[in-house]
Parts: sequence; structure tokens; C-alpha cells
Amino acid sequence: MPAPITVPLFCAASAAQGLDLPALLRSVVDSQRYMLGPRVQAFEEAFAAYVGVRHAIGVANGTDALELALRGLGLGPGQRVLTVANAGFYASTAIRAVGAEPVYAEIDDAMLTLAPAVLAEALAGQRLHAVVVTHMYGQLADMPAIAAQCKAAGVPLIEDCAQAHGARRDGRQAGAWGDIGCFSFYPTKNLGALGDGGALVTTDDALAARLRALRQYGWGTKYEVVHEGGRNSRLDELQAAVLEAKLPLLDEANARRRAIAARYGAAFAGLPLQAPLAQGEDYVAHLYVVRSTQREALRAHLSAQGIASDVHYPLPDHRQPVVADACAGVRLPLTEAACAQVLSLPCFLGMTDSQVEQVISVVADFHERVA
Ligand SMILES: Cc1ncc(COP(=O)(O)O)c(C=O)c1O
Repeated sequence: MPAPITVPLFCAASAAQGLDLPALLRSVVDSQRYMLGPRVQAFEEAFAAYVGVRHAIGVANGTDALELALRGLGLGPGQRVLTVANAGFYASTAIRAVGAEPVYAEIDDAMLTLAPAVLAEALAGQRLHAVVVTHMYGQLADMPAIAAQCKAAGVPLIEDCAQAHGARRDGRQAGAWGDIGCFSFYPTKNLGALGDGGALVTTDDALAARLRALRQYGWGTKYEVVHEGGRNSRLDELQAAVLEAKLPLLDEANARRRAIAARYGAAFAGLPLQAPLAQGEDYVAHLYVVRSTQREALRAHLSAQGIASDVHYPLPDHRQPVVADACAGVRLPLTEAACAQVLSLPCFLGMTDSQVEQVISVVADFHERVA
């Protein structure tokens, strides 16, 4: 049997991109600056320029970025935040952490992101205090429509870009459409650190100043707490150094992921699988997710051939045990059907063409056997 296909270790993937991680880390260790120092500032400036916004604020992880975004916009108890329910409970965690209530909206069945028609109905029919739109699997949601609707309704829009670093439409990047964009730099992300990391991006100067304060206890100046709801959520210098070194390689890495996705898309065209729609710059193939009515059997077949796969995510947010009682009346048939069928196939930097062909032939072989 050929060698197993699994995501490579972080250091191996970075070396393949030409990065000398040990030397980089040594330089940070020797600098004697470890938190919110010059490396963080340099990365924040580079990342803001890359996304095309005025400010980037480094924080400890992507979930904190979402929570701080909500806090920065003044969201709290008694307020209602619309989001989708197929996005791994990350936005739900943040919304619940500030004491607000998640309001779950149905997805677009083909894109698997927030459906603009559903958003329009929700904005017309109920009081909403914010919207979190998630660019699932690296697919930019329908942002021209969603951003316009939120603006017209006067409802703040937060983008969850944790899976969509570098996705863009009409030259406008994920994170540059809403009031705030939130990123995770978890190691497996398209832009990944060597541990946890995250960032908020915005073009609003006052909001940026508030978010900077909120990530560090709510300090206005050192030891003076002027903002309610402050946290300790800092990005460290080691992570910032890794991220700054990897940022210039992001577009090329996204292009490689997209090429893998395009090859899969062409090969799977005749099979009973629903493959991702987009192959343009609005899709950065963070995950290559197909839908199959025979998901478990297909997974078992892949696994028997040494091919790792995963399910992102098997349980919709409103069916998670912690909220299942409170959400018993929530019905989202498209979301629920998607969660029962989605399957993530290998799609990562460092994957060789022959590994891609191997996955294709095992998927094809499965469908021949069950035909
Ligand atoms: C869509 C999405 N949002 C938010 C997060 C949370 O990021 P973190 O794990 O850095 O807290 C993730 C992480 O997997 C994610 O995929």
C-alpha cells in the first residue's frame, strides 16, 4: 500500500516553504522580548496591509478574536447575534461568552455559508444586534449582498475569517467587508502559527483603539482600566515572528490549495458527490469538503487505504449537548442535512500531485464498488 496521506507536521511544511524555523525562533529567544513587542507590531502592520484595512490587532486565538469583536461593539446580555449553525460552535462560544444569544440562520445549500435571503428575512422580522458571517472551508460568503444588507439595516457585521485567509472578491479580502474581521492562526490554518494565535482587523480607528485595550485588561494606559470587559488575550512574539515570515508566502500557498481543489473538482464531476462550487479567488480551499450520502462508508474505504479524512462538523451548533434543550425548537433542515453529509478530503500544503491522484483513484474505486 502507498504511504499514508495525512497532514504533514508543521516544521516539515514550513521547511518545504523554505523557512528556517529554528533560526527564526532562536532570534526571538535572543531578543528577550516575548509578548506584544516589535515582532507583534511588525506582523500587525504587515497583516493589516495584506488584508487592506487600517488596523490589525494580534490576540491569543480566533475564538478570543470573535469574543473581543463582540465586546468591542458593545454586545452583551439580552442582545441577539445572528450566525450560522454549521461552523463548529466557535461563534456560538464567543456569543455565549459575552452573555448574548445566538440566533441561528439557515445556510445556502450550495455554498454552505450564510444565505443572503435568510439574512434579509431575519433582519426584517426581528431585532438583531450583530451578525457573524463565517467564510466556511475557505469560501468567501456572498459578501456584496450580506454587507449591503447589514449596512442598510444598521446592524454591525463581524466576519469569521478563521478558514479564509487571503480569500477575496473584486480585490476585497475576507476581513475587509464587515466592521471587524476575525482570524485564527491555529497551526493548520492557511496562515498558521506554531501554536495558538489570532487577530482582529478593522478600518475604524476608535474601534481599533478599544479592541487594543480590551485584549489587555481594558487598559487605557498601563495599569489604568478604562474599558469594561477587558481580557488577557495577547499574541506572543514567537507566533508573530512565524506569521510575519509566512505571510508573504500565503497567496502562493492558497494557489496550490486551489489547484488541488480544481483537480479534485474535475475528477469528481461524474460522481454522486457534491463538490465545492468556487474555484476562483473567493475560495482558498482551507478544507476540501464534499457531500456524500454514503459518508461513513466512504470514510471507512479511505481509511482502509491509509487516507485520512475528517468531518467539519458533525453536529450543528443548535444540536450540541450544552444548548440542545434551549434550542429544541430550532429547525434548520439544510444545515442538518449538510452536517450529516460533509466530508473533508486531504488538501494541504506539501501534498504531492501523486497523492492527489491517489485520493482520486480511491474515491473513484469506492463509487465503482457501490454502483
Ligand atoms: C471558522 C472558525 N472560527 C473560529 C475558530 C476558532 O479559532 P481558534 O481555534 O484559534 O480559537 C476556528 C478554529 O478552528 C474556525 O475554524
